[in-house]
Amino acid sequence: MTDVPAGPDGDALDVGSEVVVDVGPVAHGGHCVARSDGRVLFVRHAIPGERALVRVTEIGSGGRFLRADAVEVLEASPDRVTAPCPWSGPGMCGGCDLQHVAPPRQRSLKAEVVREQLRRLAGLDVAVEVEAVPGDDDGLRWRTRVEYALDDAGRPGLRRHRSHDVVPVDDCRIAAPGVRDLAVTDATWPGARAVDAVTPSASDPVALAVGERGSVEDDPDVRERLEATWSDDHGTHTLARDMTVAARGFWQVHPGAVAALVGATMAGLAVRPGERALDLYAGVGVFAAALGEAVGPGGQVVAVEADARAVEHARDNLADLPWVLPVAARVDDAFGVARPTKGGRRGRGRPRRPARSPLVPTSADVVVLDPPRTGAGAGVVRAVADLRPRAVAYVACDPAALARDTRTLVEQGYRLASLRAFDVFPMTHHVECVAVFERTDA
Ligand SMILES: C[S@@+](CC[C@H](N)C(=O)[O-])C[C@H]1O[C@@H](n2cnc3c(N)ncnc32)[C@H](O)[C@@H]1O
Repeated sequence: MTDVPAGPDGDALDVGSEVVVDVGPVAHGGHCVARSDGRVLFVRHAIPGERALVRVTEIGSGGRFLRADAVEVLEASPDRVTAPCPWSGPGMCGGCDLQHVAPPRQRSLKAEVVREQLRRLAGLDVAVEVEAVPGDDDGLRWRTRVEYALDDAGRPGLRRHRSHDVVPVDDCRIAAPGVRDLAVTDATWPGARAVDAVTPSASDPVALAVGERGSVEDDPDVRERLEATWSDDHGTHTLARDMTVAARGFWQVHPGAVAALVGATMAGLAVRPGERALDLYAGVGVFAAALGEAVGPGGQVVAVEADARAVEHARDNLADLPWVLPVAARVDDAFGVARPTKGGRRGRGRPRRPARSPLVPTSADVVVLDPPRTGAGAGVVRAVADLRPRAVAYVACDPAALARDTRTLVEQGYRLASLRAFDVFPMTHHVECVAVFERTDA
């Protein structure tokens, strides 16, 4: 075990040590920052402004910081509530970070994180409000896709925080009623690695045993409903269509998320008939559908997605919009941009620069980017800017990645025109942002 350097009073905190701290600001990742004798602690289960007894759970890399849980609150925040889930708390399920915080304060904490990431990594000072998704009052019973972990005996549960241990959560309070009704936790699942429970909005719920290598014995397609309304310079638009997605494929897990994100993206871009649009990291074509409807038959949409099965689904989902072209490729490959190297060691694994795909146009009017948690990266963002789109919408599930890519876009001559953030993962520290950028010389 790595000892952390002792504080001025000579004591050394180690795993299991307890200390009283004043809890400081929220930090990215579901914890707050506190200090003890000059040492930094990332404290879970606390709220800024509280005084709490914390127990050290882990020594951070190189002993530079400590992770800790608040095990006793000595001075409570007025925003502290009793966690609705009995499986939440120190040493318990790691799925939720904020069960002990009143939902409005959960959103203001997430807003502080987004604002801080943009300030620190992009040098921008932006007012941020995290909006509740319409109809979501208490932050419970929203999660339409849950992957249950299994213990050695095949009993389902959810993982302990930063651990492979399985906590026998019998009723996850953020799981949608359709997931609960599948009663995955009433059975044992010998031989499986995990069990996925999915309750799609437009077809029947399914429970899938996931095999050792991630394969699924019977991985059916499900139907999800894309509904969105937005207003822009050209009026109010409503989109409603059912889309096919693999049961284990990507679809937003909050039933209100797609409407919120598509609505904000399309309102921000104000797409005109006849324009050319790119949907990057397109999945089964959610944004491509909205863009395709907006540009109409005189326009063009190119939707780039790496997952071959998702692209097949996008082709079916968008077959009635023949001016939308789904392309099966990694976005970086499609732009001829070198893939990010692992480890970044000089001289090793020189990044391969693929040939640019002829299917990707060399100019565009608008671009939607909806990358995975790691973000698009500087190479892709520069390639997007080279298309000289009048507007770019960046849909982000990680505020740090958004802030890094924002910095690149600003360096390339774009300004952040609007930012909306949505609480599509209540009770957890996660937040989804829609940032719209415009060319400064437009
Ligand atoms: C956050 S999801 C968004 C999907 C879609 N826009 C939606 O809203 O349903 C990110 C998508 O990017 C895809 N993806 C991940 N890395 C990629 C890459 N390098 N190039 C292209 N697609 C990628 C994933 O398969 C996934 O479908």
